[in-house]
Amino acid sequence: MNLFDVYPLQDVTVARARGSWVWDTDGRRYLDMYGGHAVISIGHTHPHYVRRLTEQLKKIGFYSNSVKMPIQKELAEKLGQVSKKPDYQLFLCNSGAEANENALKLASFHTGRRKVVAFRGAFHGRTSLAVSATDNPKIIAPVNRTDKVVFLPFNDVASLRVCFEKEGGDIAAVITEGIQGVGGIRPASTAFLQEIRALCTEHGAVFVADSVQCGYGRSGQFFAHDFAGITADIYSVAKGMGNGFPVAAILIAPHLKPWHGMLGTTFGGNPLACAAALAVLETIEQENLTENAGAIGSYLLDELRDLPGVLEVRGRGLMIGIELPETWTTLKKDLLYKDGIFTGEAKPNVIRLLPALTLTRQQAGLFLKAFKKRLKTQPGVNNG
Ligand SMILES: Cc1ncc(COP(=O)(O)O)c(C=O)c1O
Repeated sequence: MNLFDVYPLQDVTVARARGSWVWDTDGRRYLDMYGGHAVISIGHTHPHYVRRLTEQLKKIGFYSNSVKMPIQKELAEKLGQVSKKPDYQLFLCNSGAEANENALKLASFHTGRRKVVAFRGAFHGRTSLAVSATDNPKIIAPVNRTDKVVFLPFNDVASLRVCFEKEGGDIAAVITEGIQGVGGIRPASTAFLQEIRALCTEHGAVFVADSVQCGYGRSGQFFAHDFAGITADIYSVAKGMGNGFPVAAILIAPHLKPWHGMLGTTFGGNPLACAAALAVLETIEQENLTENAGAIGSYLLDELRDLPGVLEVRGRGLMIGIELPETWTTLKKDLLYKDGIFTGEAKPNVIRLLPALTLTRQQAGLFLKAFKKRLKTQPGVNNG
């Protein structure tokens, strides 16, 4: 059988990894400034993570959600404490798309309404409603096309107000990332997030903060939405939550009430997933990783701004986008194949940095040195 060929692959076969380092099958070492797509939060094969997962596996790997599982409560307790949302409720699932799907469904159940407001540049996943709220017509299958999702310009307070004036009574949810990831690392402004909060409260709609990529400490706050000093009704989390183990969740405000059968999942919240998620939170706390992400991120952002030829540098903490001229077509590949550095990308020509939150200043320095050297070889840059 062949693999269903949906991914354009880089010519590297990864064999093992530790912290922010990855080795290929030939033993060549790479600096991981990509974090496996923002997934590696506490570093590859962190000893505490390996130990906790191994111990759990020896006890029990899986049982269904039809029995009591104290480890789920332990996780809810810890996540409530670390995220500073102790009064929220936790629903566990398996992926970012599934988290957003459940968030929007829950908002619709709660309000009895059918419309969702999403924004230009947004990415919320590939399942039915999540993909409908994603601003990429190419990946929306005909069956998922709907007029129930309204797309508005990102960071535009005026159009948001007009939309609520016209159809506020029909809006179940407003969903936005705190920093758009796939959209090219674009932070939501404080005024924009505060206006979403105010309008949702005024019109009884649910504010869904998609924190799948920008959450879990990556921005230098637990949620990137925290910078605006607001509280959302639902936070969706995934990527960094399990450091590679598939686990996701929604954190649900106390006024949203459950009933039996409202949401459900087979694999969500299984003991292995909970052990992985607990190991991540314990490490984030013990190693002050949110603070580290903020500090190393500021260092990188300061050093990257005003480099010759670079069009713009955006982001917060360890979620950084470097916008390059479209003529610089080889830079990302050169970083990988010549300098041994993994980075991410966003179209048309943005380098995305999404490394582990454990990244050290020395590792950040190694990246900067290589990046500055590569800049000098780009068209239009004075390399004299
Ligand atoms: C902001 C955001 N939301 C949702 C998703 C979907 O997550 P998953 O791929 O785990 O379904 C992603 C994935 O990149 C994302 O960046």
